[in-house]
Amino acid sequence: METGMLHLHSLLRWVLLVLLLLALYQAFTKKESIRSSSLWLMIAAHAMLLIGLYQVFAGRYGILNGLPEEVPSLMKNSFYRFYWVEHPLLMLVAIVLITLARGKAKALNYKNTGWLLLIALIFILVAIPWPFREVGAGRAWFPGM
Ligand code: HEM
Repeated sequence: METGMLHLHSLLRWVLLVLLLLALYQAFTKKESIRSSSLWLMIAAHAMLLIGLYQVFAGRYGILNGLPEEVPSLMKNSFYRFYWVEHPLLMLVAIVLITLARGKAKALNYKNTGWLLLIALIFILVAIPWPFREVGAGRAWFPGM
């Protein structure tokens, strides 16, 4: 279950990124189809949030397991600081922005939708544990493959 959730969380990132790029394109080219793409994007983002919450509390490095003995301080350990603080917080901001953008997209307010989505994209690109990230926190492009 734990590995399944982790792989799902990781693979869903690609779905979310494709939907986000599509919605961005539709916002800046003023396509009415932004109404439906922004809805799917919001659903994907909220699914990520739920799976992420599970992982950050009950996952293999979850808060409920506590810090291992060799890690006395959370903020001095880049791995735990990334997965307990930086990644969840930055992604949460991105998900809030995507949710606000959905509201703007429903009203066909293309400009505001576009800007909100662009900022959300930057947050997500910064917070994803790309394989080239610092030693420890980086993860595979396609896990399990
Ligand atoms: C747009 C939203 C998000 C994206 C794109 C995203 C992406 C990712 C990716 C690619 C991984 C690496 C998975 C792997 O090892 O293969 C990951 C891990 C993780 N994510 Fe997220 N995430 C998002 C939101 C969140 C949120 C909101 C939380 C917490 C509330 C969260 C908590 C975690 C945790 C704890 C891990 C590490 C799990 C482990 O190694 O056991 N994520 N995330």
